[in-house]
Order: sequence, then structure tokens, then C-alpha cells
Amino acid sequence: MLDAKVAELLNTQINKEFYSAYLYLDFSNYYVEQGLDGFANWYRIQAQEERDHAMLMLQYLQNNGCKVTLDAIDKPDKVFAKYDDPLHAGYEHEQYVTGLIHTIYDAAHEVKDYRTMQFLDWFVKEQGEEETNAEGLIKKYELFGSDARALYMLDNELAGRVYSAPSLVL
Ligand code: FEO
Repeated sequence: MLDAKVAELLNTQINKEFYSAYLYLDFSNYYVEQGLDGFANWYRIQAQEERDHAMLMLQYLQNNGCKVTLDAIDKPDKVFAKYDDPLHAGYEHEQYVTGLIHTIYDAAHEVKDYRTMQFLDWFVKEQGEEETNAEGLIKKYELFGSDARALYMLDNELAGRVYSAPSLVL
């Protein structure tokens, strides 16, 4: 059995990851409405990855004999005025999630829960990649977003993102 506080934080994080999926699906819906199908695709796949994160945590808890309690998922309530608003919101959200993962890591470290620390190593790395990707989108938009033809090409590039299952196997 895991330490009760560590297990509780992981259980809460399942909800946060499902919320992230919901949030990014909402971003995707916004871009569909705007006719930017590539951006919509990028966030739809991001939503799939967030669901994977939630499922990995759920599986980890169950593999360790812990009960999983699912909570209500908050409604995404962001209103966007400009094409790059979701990009900034996404970057901020990833920084927030990185902080949450670090808090769980701290709790596991405190009770010498090396198994959970090893499990979370993958998420620490993943958060680094996600922050880099989110920041990269902002930079690309800053460079190309104001020119219609360049925006069209950027949208086409983002349409090429394909889903791949997480590299972490439990
Ligand atoms: Fe599951 Fe984007 O962090």
C-alpha cells in the first residue's frame, strides 16, 4: 500500500488530468469554430494524451492496491478573443500541472516512496516536453500568426500531429 497522502494526491491528480483533457478539447472546439482545423487537431491529440496521463495514474494506484475515487470534472470556462489566447492559457496550465506533479514528488520523497518517485519520473520529463511544446506554439504564432498565408501553413503543420500512445507502460 502507498502512503495515504501520496495516494490521495495521485487520486486528485487523476481528476486534474481529466480536466486537462476537457480543457484542451475545449480549445480544440474553439479552433474548429474559427476554421483552424490544424490547431484543433493539435489540441484534440493533446486531450488524448491528458486522458492517457489520467489512466496511467489510475492504473498505478490500482496496481498498488489503492482505491480510486473519481470526482466531478470542472467545466472549462475560458473565453477566447484572439487565436493565440488558448496558446497562452495552455502554457500557463502546463506550468501549473508541473507544480502539481512536483508536489506529489515531494510528498513521495518525504516518505521515501521510491516506487512512486520512479513512476513520477516519467511525468516530470513529460511536463518538461509539454511546457516546451506549449511555449513553442506561442513562439511560432508570434512569428507567423499575423500573416494569413503563414498562418495557413502553420495550421497545416499542426494538422500533421498524430497520436501516439504513452511511452510509459505499467
Ligand atoms: Fe498531463 Fe499536460 O500534463
